[in-house]
Amino acid sequence: MAGRIPQSFINDLLARVDIVDVINARLTLKKAGKNYQALCPFHDEKTPSFSVSPDKQFYHCFGCGESGTALTFLMEHDHLEFVEAVENMAGLVGLEVPREEGAPRVRDNSNLYELLARAAKHFRQSLKTAPQAVGYLKSRGLTGEIARNFGIGYAPEGWDGITRALADVSENLLLEAGLLTSNDKGRVYDRFRERIMFPIRDTRGRVIGFGGRIFGDGSGPKYLNSPETPVFHKGRELYGLFEARRALRHIDRLVVVEGYMDVAALAQEGIANAVATLGTASTQDHFHKLFRHTQEVVCCFDGDSAGRKAAWRALENALPTLTEGRQLKFVFLPDGEDPDTLVRARGRPAFISLVDEARPAIEYLFERLGDGLSMQNLDDQARLASLAMPYIDRVPGGILKDLMLNRLQLLTGFIPNTAGATPVSRSRNTSPNRLSPLSKRLLTYLLKNPGLYQALPPDRRREITALEEGDLFLDVVKYLDENPEADSALLLGRWSGDAAHGELVALFERRLDLTDGAMTAEFVEGVARYVAGANSARRRRLLAEIREQPSTEKLKRFWKLKQLSNKNQGRGDDRG
Ligand code: GTP
Ligand code: MN
Repeated sequence: MAGRIPQSFINDLLARVDIVDVINARLTLKKAGKNYQALCPFHDEKTPSFSVSPDKQFYHCFGCGESGTALTFLMEHDHLEFVEAVENMAGLVGLEVPREEGAPRVRDNSNLYELLARAAKHFRQSLKTAPQAVGYLKSRGLTGEIARNFGIGYAPEGWDGITRALADVSENLLLEAGLLTSNDKGRVYDRFRERIMFPIRDTRGRVIGFGGRIFGDGSGPKYLNSPETPVFHKGRELYGLFEARRALRHIDRLVVVEGYMDVAALAQEGIANAVATLGTASTQDHFHKLFRHTQEVVCCFDGDSAGRKAAWRALENALPTLTEGRQLKFVFLPDGEDPDTLVRARGRPAFISLVDEARPAIEYLFERLGDGLSMQNLDDQARLASLAMPYIDRVPGGILKDLMLNRLQLLTGFIPNTAGATPVSRSRNTSPNRLSPLSKRLLTYLLKNPGLYQALPPDRRREITALEEGDLFLDVVKYLDENPEADSALLLGRWSGDAAHGELVALFERRLDLTDGAMTAEFVEGVARYVAGANSARRRRLLAEIREQPSTEKLKRFWKLKQLSNKNQGRGDDRG
């Protein structure tokens, strides 16, 4: 494990390396006034909307909304991890990357990747001598070619297969990689036993985890996945994305299905653009990733109630990623079918025409929200408007948002009032998240120096992350709480494509004339005021609710909050 890279080094690097050089080595840049232009590498386009500013040392695409520094560009364009991108940039100016000792550590995961690759090989080889497993795959109609392309293997029965196959690797590392598990008596044994093994690869092709399917008369859950590990995060990975990118030079469309077997079966029938989440809901991170590789995403889910629920969650999570030119669609399969059974029974053309007929997200949204409402009825019209606005607010400005607002107006005659009285046609300037001056200042500090979050006392960190309602500042705080290693570039990258990204970039670029010490002091004090403010707002809301409709439960909650604020009075920051 190597120490953390000091933030000051990263700032220094960003100051020394010219973003124009970095990007010019990869794209054809043309001078346009003060800036440079190119065809955007992150989405498909015919006329350039990708702009690089030498003054600001920033790039921004007016088409897809991607933007960032030289560092984020390297991460996104060359598909590098943060540390690799820093090393790459340091190499350009001949600098050695320094590491802070004692500070929170950034880990080096190369040993995990290496042993996961070896484990995958072991499973592949075990499949060759396991006729029952091969027989099962054949009975599911999978060819040897597809099994090879997806690296499918077999984990034999027994408790110490992986320990024996990787005898030179420590038990701790195997546990960390999720290949071993332990019971409550402390006994350590193979996590995957007697299962068909699907290796899960990242977009660079490295094995990061496994999904294991039971077959024959094995016991336990149908699928067993690797646990969260330093290299495997279920909520971010997509099964089959690496394979799709390898098979297709250009991906017009990605189809999100539910299962491993669906991805493999579709690939076998010549449909190479299917990916699956790993038995989890589709997250915003998933959609960020999907839209980085294509302009159109079709979610193809079961028609049952679980499938419909999953689709709605997916829609909610996808909305903030729907910048200009991106399309999201939904299609539901007939009852009892999944893509695997459907493509095998009815063939490739039938599946493709089903996907071609998928419904755009906007139609799906209004149909679901309007379910049971009558647009002949004034109350129902108002109800639809109030149901739809929070969703429309989550879509970044652009054509899609305008279309949604127009559709709402058509259905209800209601002119949405997004920020002040904004007519529909000017809706793209609305910003759903008004930030207070305090939040803006705290955000600026955090964006410039994310390590400040760690300067807060642990109690305060617990208090602020426990807040349920808040603004963009709270979102950033929660992100830093979960990703303590994040630096400015990573933070900005996390919000790229979001409605809030422009605001964050503007705050990041604000000039500050403060010493580090003064900034830390102001930050710690400001967060205390932020928390107090949020708590007193909560109390005021609760009080209003109590006046409207009193209940003992509400009164109890009120007193609890009141006591909490009395305890904090000494800090002199609450006016209740
Ligand atoms: P087959 O049943 O072999 O056709 O697999 P499938 O991929 O079609 O599975 P299914 O449609 O039942 O489930 C879809 C996805 O949900 C799977 O690919 C898994 O990722 C996940 N899943 C299903 N069952 C389980 C389970 O028991 N445990 C876990 N962790 N995930 C599961
Ligand atoms: Mn299936």
